[in-house]
Amino acid sequence: MVDMDVLVSLCKRRGFIYPSSEIYGGVSGCWDYGPMGVELRRNIKDSWWKNVVQDRLNVVGVDSSIIMNPNVWKASGHVDSFTDPMVDCKECQLRFRADQLDSDRCPECGGELTEPRLFNLMFKTHLGAVENDASLAYLRPETAQGIFVQFLNVLNDSRQKIPFGIAQIGKAFRNEVTPRNFIFRSREFEQMELEFFCAPDETEKWFDYWVEERMSWYYGIGLKKENLRLREHTEDELAHYAKRCIDIEYNFPFGWQELEGIADRQDFDLSQHQKFSGKKMNYFDDGASKRYIPHVIETSAGVDRILLTVLVDAFEEEEERTVLRFSSVMAPISVAVFPLLKKPPLKEKAKQMERELREKFRTFYDEVGSIGRRYRRQDEVGTPCCVTVDFDTLEDNTVTLRYRDSMEQIRVNCDNICDEVGNFLYKNSDSND
Ligand code: GAP
Repeated sequence: MVDMDVLVSLCKRRGFIYPSSEIYGGVSGCWDYGPMGVELRRNIKDSWWKNVVQDRLNVVGVDSSIIMNPNVWKASGHVDSFTDPMVDCKECQLRFRADQLDSDRCPECGGELTEPRLFNLMFKTHLGAVENDASLAYLRPETAQGIFVQFLNVLNDSRQKIPFGIAQIGKAFRNEVTPRNFIFRSREFEQMELEFFCAPDETEKWFDYWVEERMSWYYGIGLKKENLRLREHTEDELAHYAKRCIDIEYNFPFGWQELEGIADRQDFDLSQHQKFSGKKMNYFDDGASKRYIPHVIETSAGVDRILLTVLVDAFEEEEERTVLRFSSVMAPISVAVFPLLKKPPLKEKAKQMERELREKFRTFYDEVGSIGRRYRRQDEVGTPCCVTVDFDTLEDNTVTLRYRDSMEQIRVNCDNICDEVGNFLYKNSDSND
């Protein structure tokens, strides 16, 4: 079992994740990503975008604004229904989510709690110089609505016909009452959402299709199969817009938790926007010779949650080292290059090797400290392999290629190093499919 405190400390030490504005004491529920963290995030988002958008003819992307017309959130139901029940302790004034408490007394001081009150999770702001009801706006709590309100534009411009999907990756904000479990539940996070529009009588087929597609993406990025499962929502758990929802869950150190939701949103959102905006959301299906408001299957995943999952899944503490066993597609650095010692001829050759490798792979160069320590450091950021230039290199034009997982070391001719590394990384990512 992964110890979360050890993982959190590694994330900070190795430049994955820092508390936001840490020098001022941080801010609850907000996090910053360091040099390793941004690469990992990018790998997650690139892999998702390629799989969901670029590898398909029937999915296109958008990038909508975070602040939208406030009527969007009235139409979507978020102004009325996007709430958590919340209680306050009458003694210590702390606030808790009523649905997460085991008893009816304060978990901090044992004090008496107020009756639950509904608390809206949307962050409010004001547009322009005057702060009044007319200037009220919200930070989006999901990216999905940006897709629904651009449905007509995209339909007209992209030459798509139903069934087709619109995807978006972007920030979302929720004023969570209790942000917790590191980056698992935060107040500012990023979503990767697909809204797939289909005929009303085809929703079941597309629902099943997308559940399967999404599960195989998780296997493809290297997550262990036994740590993933599907869980169907019970009737009373369903969001206000959903007829059916299945969560993809991961077995975190703090229990099985949702990574992604796949929902049958029916025609709820388009119908609501038709009602509130007065714009017709009808689609004429020439194949079926009928007009209807399209139904929607949504897949909605959190980048930060997946990033935490990838870290937890890859993390291993061995007797003499800590290692992140990332798959090649996820690893922030693909190959690190070292001179054995800081001697000019070794440094020069190592830098030349690094430049060659950099044309094809994400590389890292390090000449400081003992070679053993440099290997350990790369193990801790999950670099699949390292190349070391030593004195033999200058004699016979070979280098040491050292593998992260087996710690095996082989000699490879410098002329073949790009192929050797490429074959290894490629094989490694293939075995995860
Ligand atoms: N458009 C549907 C929607 O937003 P959701 O289940 O509320 O559905 C979808 O959120 C995904 O967004 C979740 O599965 C999770 O990965 C991520 N997510 C939601 N709230 C989050 C939070 N406070 N912190 C981090 N990720 C969050």
